[in-house]
Amino acid sequence: MPTELQKITRKAEKRGIPSITHHVFFCGSSSCCKNKDEAKAAAKKLGKAAKQSRDEEGGFEFTPVECLNLCTQGPLAVVYPEGVWYAHVDEEAAEKIIEQHLKGGQVVEELVFARSGANPTTGKD
Ligand code: FES
Repeated sequence: MPTELQKITRKAEKRGIPSITHHVFFCGSSSCCKNKDEAKAAAKKLGKAAKQSRDEEGGFEFTPVECLNLCTQGPLAVVYPEGVWYAHVDEEAAEKIIEQHLKGGQVVEELVFARSGANPTTGKD
């Protein structure tokens, strides 16, 4: 009989977690976003791209959150493992982050307002 840990390990494997290379946390809450529709469109684009990417090597995970504790100039997103923080993530910006950063490995510099993590200068491994 599988243990609880084995059960969730299988669930993570089914979801493609072992092969993801990035994780995007996204806040589109009304406290930081003036345009709720814009936030919804960006979240939808990122979520759809994440779902599609799970069938590929180098996919990414997308997690909408209630707040990233900054509460201004949203929608906000932070991409790990690079620790790159993006502001004003509308639908167009989300597309750039998907294509340029998550698929292409190049940070979208014009949207970056902060960096954290192990390699904050380049955002590369
Ligand atoms: S509500 Fe978006 S960062 Fe706090």
